[in-house]
Amino acid sequence: MTQPILEVQGLSVTYGRDTQVLKQIGFSLQRGEILAVVGESGSGKSTLIRAIINLLGNGGKINSGSIHFDGEDLSSFNTRQWRSLRGGRIAMVFQNPGAALSPMVGIERQFVEAIRNHKAISKADAKQIALMEIERLGMADPQSILQSRPWQLSGGMKQRVAIAISLSMQPELILADEPTSALDVSTQELVLNELRLRKAKQNTSVIMVSHNLAACAAIADKILVMKDGEVVDFGTLDQIHSRRDECYTCELLDAVPRLKPSNRELKYA
Ligand SMILES: Nc1ncnc2c1ncn2[C@@H]1O[C@H](COP(=O)(O)OP(=O)(O)OP(=O)(O)O)[C@@H](O)[C@H]1O
Ligand SMILES: [Mg+2]
Repeated sequence: MTQPILEVQGLSVTYGRDTQVLKQIGFSLQRGEILAVVGESGSGKSTLIRAIINLLGNGGKINSGSIHFDGEDLSSFNTRQWRSLRGGRIAMVFQNPGAALSPMVGIERQFVEAIRNHKAISKADAKQIALMEIERLGMADPQSILQSRPWQLSGGMKQRVAIAISLSMQPELILADEPTSALDVSTQELVLNELRLRKAKQNTSVIMVSHNLAACAAIADKILVMKDGEVVDFGTLDQIHSRRDECYTCELLDAVPRLKPSNRELKYA
């Protein structure tokens, strides 16, 4: 077995003095694997993603456990190392589409600066990459998107720009918190396809939080099911289906008709 790109062991997180939000989370992710994190609202999905990238904020604290990225213990990283890791080798797509963008700064400047923070290339080359990435995510007029400011774009456009910026770094691991929540169904598919393509071409690993179980089933190699800050199931879709005595997971999966075992053969034949 090769070294996992990410290994989380016994991870517990609290907010404030005693609100324990994550309890003993453990899982590992190989290079080129897509992991879907599912679970009801408030189960700790975003907290898990934020803990991995060290952006808990607001009194959030890792109490115990460890997170290793490519064999390195992330708790030993200093500010400079985090700056180079974040947005470079690990990309983050936030739940709120606008969160990653400065509201008053033009998209071109944000895009080009983000690229040049991690790559020694000219502004003109960075702009070419930006145009290409925006186009790949199905936005019609990349040039005019670059000339916009975030407040001039719709939620779905902002979400795609944020994803395009993340992908332009060719990260080894993408942490995506509901990356398609502001998108219509066909655009969602486009974005999911792009993630799948990166996995195939660049061996990119992805952790994707999603309420859309059908989307998860379509692209995820493994699924991690959370409830009240704990992992209640983890494995491939087939493994999860074979453990149908785990009632909570059954309920979630049964909510998606095409994931039922009787129908599954059709899709995965
Ligand atoms: N900054 C914070 N301060 C205090 N409590 C927080 C903070 N952020 C999250 N929580 C609490 O942690 C728990 C998990 O929240 P989290 O945002 O991780 O859930 P989630 O699974 O992502 O939910 P959703 O599906 O609604 O996005 C919730 O009870 C939430 O109230
Ligand atoms: Mg969340």
